[in-house]
Amino acid sequence: MSEEFAMTDYNTASFAAVAAAIRDRRTIKEFVDQPVPRDLIAALLDLAVWAPNHKMTEPWRFYVIDGAARTRVSELARTLRYKKLLASGAEEHVATRRAAEFAEQWAQVPAIVFVTQVVDPDPFVEREDYGAVCCAVQNLMLAAHAAGLATFWGTGDLAAARPLADLVGAGENERMVGLIRLGYADPAVKAPVKRTDAGKLTRWVE
Ligand SMILES: Cc1cc2nc3c(=O)[nH]c(=O)nc-3n(C[C@H](O)[C@H](O)[C@H](O)COP(=O)(O)O)c2cc1C
Repeated sequence: MSEEFAMTDYNTASFAAVAAAIRDRRTIKEFVDQPVPRDLIAALLDLAVWAPNHKMTEPWRFYVIDGAARTRVSELARTLRYKKLLASGAEEHVATRRAAEFAEQWAQVPAIVFVTQVVDPDPFVEREDYGAVCCAVQNLMLAAHAAGLATFWGTGDLAAARPLADLVGAGENERMVGLIRLGYADPAVKAPVKRTDAGKLTRWVE
């Protein structure tokens, strides 16, 4: 670390804005019932694509699910959860109830962005491209946070299910990177914050 570099050198408004977006963004799982404007989602995606990507492969693809299309996702969530519960030995009435609860959770998400990676046959490129798409998702989430939105990056059963990729029209050569829920946060819900200080995970090599 350079001794000549004073804290004030980078204590600018733009540094503070970026630092606040990075530090204050939290995964939020509860949203109020308020739609997210499409032009705002489009603006977030326009920022997502500024992520670094080696050899400019631009491996990301985005599928926005909002409005009435959410019902199809919610119904798919119900079907998948119901089958999973039955397969794990749950009684039918339990499976029906819990699948309905799961479907309801999805029905209440104001907007969803399904993010995929176009999979390159070269494993080295494929790995680098996955990193790039993750950067794009982080861009999207930071920009969303700065715009007053909350986000939740999920990779669970629904996100990973091929029927979801089929529902949105993703190609066979695409892999799910995340199902990003977007909405205005429920102010009653507090998100836990926990990080290990970077200093404990860093060695300054002399
Ligand atoms: C690749 C990836 C996949 C994730 N998948 C899930 C998930 O399936 N379910 C979940 O509850 N959170 C998921 N998360 C969110 C993390 O749990 C969350 O980022 C973590 O708890 C830290 O909280 P923060 O985002 O508020 O800093 C995922 C995050 C990443 C980066």
